[in-house]
Amino acid sequence: MVPMLNMGSLPLANRLETLGSTSDKAYPLVVYYCHNCALIQLADLVPRNEMFTDYVYLTSASKTMTDHFNRYAETITQRLDLTTKDNVLDVGSNDGTLLKAFQRHGVKVLGIEPARNVASIAEAGGVPTLTEYFDLKLAKTLQKVRLVTANNILSHVGNLRDFLATVAQVLRHDGLFVFEVPWVADVLRNHSFDMIYHEHLSYFGLRSLARALQEAGLFLVDLEYYPSIHGGTFRGFASPSSKESSFVLREMSAREENEADFWALKEFSERVPKLAQHLRDILLGLKKEGKRIAGYGAPAKATILLNYCGIGRDILDYASDTTPLKQGKFIPGVGVPVVSPQLAQTKPPDYYLLLAWNFREEILAKEKEFIERGGRFVVPFPYPEVVDS
Ligand code: TYD
Repeated sequence: MVPMLNMGSLPLANRLETLGSTSDKAYPLVVYYCHNCALIQLADLVPRNEMFTDYVYLTSASKTMTDHFNRYAETITQRLDLTTKDNVLDVGSNDGTLLKAFQRHGVKVLGIEPARNVASIAEAGGVPTLTEYFDLKLAKTLQKVRLVTANNILSHVGNLRDFLATVAQVLRHDGLFVFEVPWVADVLRNHSFDMIYHEHLSYFGLRSLARALQEAGLFLVDLEYYPSIHGGTFRGFASPSSKESSFVLREMSAREENEADFWALKEFSERVPKLAQHLRDILLGLKKEGKRIAGYGAPAKATILLNYCGIGRDILDYASDTTPLKQGKFIPGVGVPVVSPQLAQTKPPDYYLLLAWNFREEILAKEKEFIERGGRFVVPFPYPEVVDS
């Protein structure tokens, strides 16, 4: 493994600070490339209890994701012809958004979610949820199922080999493992370095992923691509019994050939510091003109973007976010306060830095009035720019 991009020491992305409990705790963030398995990954691991016990990310926080998971349940129910006799196991089930959609199709569900506060939201919504980590010990207590899903989970897993072996263990022979991960080719192409944070241990391309699955006796057989989910996501379908790969999978693997390799990562690593400086310069220029700037959204990504670029309270008045769990807290490291959109509306800025850039379409549509009144958005990726549409 070789170190490729050293982002310095940064705070944990989802660890929002409260008034009484500000902490300057920062952890090294260095991206490595493995010449053996082609996996782009972190090697400085933070204990998982520090990251996943109390969690502020909620799947249901955007219409884009709720719609996405509703369609997900519908298409997979059809694809596998799931009935009331079938069980779906969702690993990292968060607030139960996906499982609720499966329940509406009459399928039996079980969620696995180690973050207690988030799991209890799912339970309160009628989604049975185990507050556990998904491992072989837990698998022994579970029934075998037709479908295991894991969305935006594989990147978070410390021991990928054990995790995939556990999936294989609970999957029926005729079952399917369906998962979503951000595609590293998109991260590199869009320069979205804020997708790199301590929780995300692996950055998958198809090659490295297929290889890891195969070690667990699972075969990547099909793929769907969602360019507007988390900046570019693929949904993989892995089978314990069939080895026949689809046309789309073969096409995408060929397309990825030069887009997620050592050289692509090297180019990305050279560009990132320059783009970060450019974004800061744009914002400082606006401040010099006397403009007021605020952040739009307080995603985990924002912690990385703001800390790495050196964008603090001298530049951003606040960050507005719809998630009640985040409001009243502060983005770690930079101390930017998170406020509700209602509060933001009482003191709107001239410019919003689009921190939740992955919801660009949804947000710009929602903020038509702000734009019509002369407000503008600064979009950080793929190149920092000011936009009004
Ligand atoms: P997201 O990009 O989904 O996640 P991550 O934490 O993995 O980077 O987070 C988006 C955040 O933006 C989430 O806290 C909800 C917030 N948000 C708004 O405040 N307003 C909106 O209109 C949308 C779509 C999201």
